[in-house]
Amino acid sequence: MVAAREKFLHERLGDGEWREENMERLKGRMVVLGSSATHSSTKKAAKILGLRFETIPVDGVDGYALSGVKLKTYLVRLRERELEPFFLTATMGTTDTCAVDDFEGISEVLKAYTQDTNRDVWVHVDAAHAGAALICPEVRGKIRANVFEDLHSFDTNMNKWMLINLDASCLFIKDRNWLTCAFSVNQAVYDNHHSEGGLVTDYREWQIPLSRRFRALKIWFVMRTYGVKGIREYIRKTIGLAEWFEELLKTREDLFETVAGPSFALVVFRLVGKVGQEGAAEDKLSEGNKLTRSLCDKANGSGKVWVTSTVLDGRYAIRFMTAVSTTEKKHIDMAFELFVKLAEEVQRAEV
Ligand SMILES: Cc1ncc(COP(=O)(O)O)c(C=O)c1O
Repeated sequence: MVAAREKFLHERLGDGEWREENMERLKGRMVVLGSSATHSSTKKAAKILGLRFETIPVDGVDGYALSGVKLKTYLVRLRERELEPFFLTATMGTTDTCAVDDFEGISEVLKAYTQDTNRDVWVHVDAAHAGAALICPEVRGKIRANVFEDLHSFDTNMNKWMLINLDASCLFIKDRNWLTCAFSVNQAVYDNHHSEGGLVTDYREWQIPLSRRFRALKIWFVMRTYGVKGIREYIRKTIGLAEWFEELLKTREDLFETVAGPSFALVVFRLVGKVGQEGAAEDKLSEGNKLTRSLCDKANGSGKVWVTSTVLDGRYAIRFMTAVSTTEKKHIDMAFELFVKLAEEVQRAEV
């Protein structure tokens, strides 16, 4: 976001005499964009930089993904308010449901916006969890990952789903020049002819601290141990386990409904209200929420599984994630049996 801000300010203001003064005025109109499913880290970055963050709402009708159409509508509104969007986070695999934003649509809309306004919006692809699956060609084709080439930066956390321990967050940036422009500070103490001659990459100019952890070796070990083939097999296995879990859920439609997925080894589901339950839709919703929350607490309390929860369009739901190296089919079967037993208990307790 710092690099994007640098680029935007440079393109808008150049290096002229009034740059500093105009910059302060312009900063008040700059907007960071994300959808309501975007991870909070984008909002946090905007907060740190003292910039305005605006949320484009997405819901179940969009599959919790940001579409080009929604973005276009929002850009029109921003123009009416004389605000200037300069950064958008588009997500491959949102935190709640692992939804994938419409990268093609977003890219088209932003190309048209640039033609219209002569302003470029930096698009950052947040693929923190799901990015690991790009190692599989079938996933690249499915989400049309070739569009990423038109975008500005991409990040995936190898520590989430690529068998590497915390931390290993990999940021790729199309034009690193904006990053070094933003972070570079010349200080006599760091002068040396290797840097001057461009012989080394000075990562102190890519980040906030000067020193940097050495994380490459653990990544190298995983790559050498598993190879591309082994990592692909692991990713496909974990995706298959989530698909299997969803198959099992479908065998008990009297108890469960799938709210989202299976997507990138995640299934989001909830407990349906009791059969034959009468009453207003709102009451049924709140009853279903109460039962699902109780199921989630009981499942975690059992010590046999660990699941997290979310709320989607007012519906409380359980996130069941199979992207774990030690998880096997027998564990999925055991977890499903546990959910059935606890769901029946929860429903009985409410009678
Ligand atoms: C989509 C997405 N983006 C970003 C993050 C944050 O990652 P980090 O732990 O590297 O801050 C998460 C964490 O769960 C995430 O799901």
